[in-house]
This record gives sequence, C-alpha cells and structure tokens, in this order.
Amino acid sequence: MFALKNYYLHIYNIDGSKGSDLLMNYINPIPLKAAITAVGAYVPEEKITNADLEKMVDTTDEWILERTGIRERRILKDPTKGSSFMAIKAAENLLKKRKLDPLEIEAVIVATITPDMKVAATAAYVASEIGAINAFAYDLQAACSGFLFGMSNASSMIVSGRYKKVLLIGSDKMSSIIDYSDRSTCIIFGDGAGAVLFEPSESAYGWEDEYLRSDGSGRMFLNIKAGGSLFPASEETLQGGMHNLYQDGKAVFKYAVSEMTNAVEEIIDRNKLDIENISYLVPHQANKRIIDAITKRVGLPYQKVMTNIEYFGNTTAATLPLLLKDYESRLNPGDRLVFAAFGGGFTWGAGYLTWAY
Ligand code: UT7
Repeated sequence: MFALKNYYLHIYNIDGSKGSDLLMNYINPIPLKAAITAVGAYVPEEKITNADLEKMVDTTDEWILERTGIRERRILKDPTKGSSFMAIKAAENLLKKRKLDPLEIEAVIVATITPDMKVAATAAYVASEIGAINAFAYDLQAACSGFLFGMSNASSMIVSGRYKKVLLIGSDKMSSIIDYSDRSTCIIFGDGAGAVLFEPSESAYGWEDEYLRSDGSGRMFLNIKAGGSLFPASEETLQGGMHNLYQDGKAVFKYAVSEMTNAVEEIIDRNKLDIENISYLVPHQANKRIIDAITKRVGLPYQKVMTNIEYFGNTTAATLPLLLKDYESRLNPGDRLVFAAFGGGFTWGAGYLTWAY
C-alpha cells in the first residue's frame, strides 16, 4: 500500500496578491509503513521474591536464579481486579505520555491468555474505560506470542490505509492461573501489562518484516486443559487442577530455543541484517537460559539483548512491551530491533522493526 499524500498549492493573483489554495495530492512512492509511536506500561507494586517462594514450595533462591534468571515477579494481589485493570493502566500511561485523545483511537487489541471473563472481550472493556469509544476492540490469544502476533495485526491495519491509530496491549494476570504449590510453574510467571501505539510512519521506519508460525501438536506440552469446550468446568476438572497452567518445561524449553533461533535467523537472512547492524534482540522473557542460548546461536553480544526477566519473570503477552518500556530511553530513530517469541499452542516467530522516535 502506498500513502496518498496531500499538499496545498498556493495560487497568486496576477497583481502578486495571494489567491486561493488548491488541495492537491500525489501517491507517495515510499511504501506506507506502520511505526510504533508510543509505549506505556504497568506492573503491580506487590512482589513475590525467590525467598517468598522458598516458603511456599520445595525450591531455593539459587536454583531459581541459576535455572531461570528470575529474582522476583510482580503480582496483582487484589482478587477484584483482572487483566483489564493492568491493561487500562498501561494504556493510560501511554495516552498521557503521548498526549493522545482516546477518541482518535480506531482499534484496540488486547493480547492475553487471562481475559477478565471467558466471554466478553477484555479489549472491549479496556477501550470503553480509557474513552476509546470510536474504536473496535478484540482479544488475541496466542499465549506468549500474543504480542508479537498482535504487532503483525496492528501494523497490517495501518498499512491497509483504513486505520491511523491502533492501540496494542499485552496484559496477563498469570497469578490467576498458577498453582502456587507447583514449583515448575509458580517460579516463572508474573503479572504485568504493556501497550504500544501503531500509526502510519512519517519516516522510512516501522514494521519491516515478520516470520510467524504455529504447530498445534504442541498443545499437549503447555496448556490449561479445562474451562473450554473440550473439558467444560466440572467438579472433576476442578478437583484435578485442570484450570491451572500446565507445562512440560523441558519439552517447551527445547522447542522454544530451536524455533525462536530459526525464526530470528530467517529474519536476519531475509533482511540482510548482521550482528553489527542489529541494535537489539527483543526476546520473550521465559527463561534466561533460553534467551542466552538464542543469543549465543545467533552470535549477538549480550549488550544487544533486551532483558528484564530478573525483575518481572515471564509475564506472557506483556514481556515484549515491558522490554520496550524499559529500553525506550536508549532507542534512537532507525535502530533495528528483532523481536522473538515462543508460547503455548505452540505459537512462535520473529519480527523486524526499525524504531521511529
Ligand atoms: O513462556 C513460554 C513457555 N514457557 C517456557 O518457555 C518455559 C520453558 N521451560 C523452563 O523454563 C524450564 O524447563 C523450567 C524452569 C520450567 C524447569 O527447568 P529445567 O532446568 O528444565 O528443570 P527440569 O524440569 O528438567 O527439572 C530438573 C530437576 C528435577 O529434579 P530431578 O528429577 O532431576 O531430581 C526437578 O524436579 O529440578 C527439579 N526442579 C526444581 N528444583 C528446585 C524443578 N523445578 C524446581 C524448582 N526448584 N522450582
């Protein structure tokens, strides 16, 4: 899609006085790109540290730190608040920073696996609460790849030429689906939300490329079995703990490393990127060892890898925007960012964005 650009042609009268202005337009030969123009985030105040977990399950600070790289994670303790609470806070943070009137937002996408309710899109509630009443809104469920897939959706909407402001939020209250007596999951996950605004790029920078994949045979390794149409809630599903997150950590780890590495290498090859001209790898924060393995295989120096897993753990759909929020002040126009994610489904992929501000 090419952008239709408007400009005014100033007409002067024969005596030199200013006449009327003519509105002209032309097809801009530079293809329209979608740029991220603002970032917002929210994490709850309350923390669960490794020391806290030592009192809850059979684990140690040393084991968690060495095997995952996580020291603490944020938890939304208030049982009356769901993922929408954090999504609204992240969106409001963005709106305030960007001084944006919410009436201008045309679409709101919330990537989440912990919607407020099973039916009634969390995104619709978030849009109403922030005053984005001219927007349509929907949830996107692709687990830890939700935000990455959402970036594809949001940028496609912009490039279609039909929308000019799309708000993408990743928000997960993982504590609502974690069994805090299961040491293989409770040590990893945390709660949080992040938001970005996609707009038509005013420069040459924006969403450049993506490589996105899924494989349904992976659902046996990472899931919440019950509560859907296959295993509706029943006494049996409740007693069997089938409403909590289950993962075969070892299997997921293996797939995550190989598929994220493949996806990143595909993006690097197709876009003629190299370790010199990549500014940052922006990887999903699932486990520091996964991030380190990808970094090593791709051959990137560690300074070029965004990480904050130490303080937030794995916040599922929120990891990527939380990274952008933390590194925003270090980014410059034209910086080349390569995103990567892997999650339940399985879903995974990589994306390439040139930073616009
Ligand atoms: O976000 C996308 C999806 N998720 C992921 O990408 C997560 C991928 N997986 C992982 O991050 C890791 O597999 C875990 C952190 C979940 C587990 O680490 P691991 O190194 O794969 O451990 P493991 O499951 O192979 O277990 C090794 C040992 C076992 O003991 P034995 O059988 O060798 O005696 C476990 O019982 O460590 C034990 N173990 C623990 N020990 C202390 C497992 N969890 C813990 C724990 N504390 N929390």
